[in-house]
Amino acid sequence: MKNLDWSNIGFEYMQTEQRYVSNYKDGSWDEGGLTTDANVVINECAGILQYCQECFEGLKAYRTEDGSIVTFRPDLNAERMMDSAARLEMPQFPKERFLAAVDAVVKANADWVPPYGSGATFYLRPYMFASGPVIGVKPAAEYQFRIFGTPVGPYFKGGVKPLTLCVSDFDRAAPHGTGHIKAGLNYAMSLHAHSVAHAAGYDENMFLDPATRTYVEETGGANFLFITKDNEVVTPKSDSILPSITRRSLVYVAEHYLGLKVTQRPVALAELADFAECGLCGTAAVISPVGKVVDHGKEICFASGMTEMGPITKKLYDTLTGIQMGRIEAPEGWIRKIM
Ligand code: PLP
Ligand code: COI
Repeated sequence: MKNLDWSNIGFEYMQTEQRYVSNYKDGSWDEGGLTTDANVVINECAGILQYCQECFEGLKAYRTEDGSIVTFRPDLNAERMMDSAARLEMPQFPKERFLAAVDAVVKANADWVPPYGSGATFYLRPYMFASGPVIGVKPAAEYQFRIFGTPVGPYFKGGVKPLTLCVSDFDRAAPHGTGHIKAGLNYAMSLHAHSVAHAAGYDENMFLDPATRTYVEETGGANFLFITKDNEVVTPKSDSILPSITRRSLVYVAEHYLGLKVTQRPVALAELADFAECGLCGTAAVISPVGKVVDHGKEICFASGMTEMGPITKKLYDTLTGIQMGRIEAPEGWIRKIM
């Protein structure tokens, strides 16, 4: 294992030894394989550079209590990436090949997978972009699929300290647009809002539904999860948010492991004050508690407060991370053992 101060690393890119590359040309993907070259060389007119034809994924490899290395539901990342590619008129990278490539990158960089209990994990970033030249607006003819990995610590500094969000004046996604897929363009769209929120002292944005600006959507990089005063789990339902794998897993954990009632429905901004707890969920965020949302000067404070995670959020967090780290038995098919 590499000699890093594992408990103190942030959510930053660190270059590791091996990454996976496959190229698409003349209607098919080549054999693909690992390379030590971390740089991408493409034509000046590549579709990614001109019209932003790109999609990506994010998943983690975990070192478990018994010393194995596993990934969590990578099949869902493979499927979501196929959906993203289809929406962006890109070729799909086959699911079995995606899974094998993730395994290969993890195995080749096993020394970079943080130790069990350190709080750090190995983040994998599969991505695909148009490498072929296009000058008229149309899909490119050539693509590149890659996966690299980097060890990461917590996404939000300060660990489990509750976050303060602000209701954004900007929209993240358009109605009937691309909010439901993992396209880089959605994130480019969110950067200005992100900078404005940070400059004003907030941790993140709460984006509203773009059509009516009355319902809660998500943040720039995670879905929302709310807990009612009766310990019910509520998650926003919308066609323009990313179908988070963490959120879908937490819904199952809440119902089947914790015996909680779960409702997936539109959540109005106006009802936020009625919730007892709020959290952001995602691969990078895991579950990060939210203590307060500020809506143009009006403070909406959750009953769980600003010092620690609410009790139900904590149970969800402990159960999910317990499954990921091998302390709690996982539902069939959730854990893929790599080595
Ligand atoms: N929403 C957005 C906009 C994201 O970028 C992410 C991160 O992947 C999520 C939600 C959470 O999705 P997942 O749980 O699949 O990581
Ligand atoms: C993830 O959670 O994997 C994400 O992609 C969120 C963020 C880093 C963009």
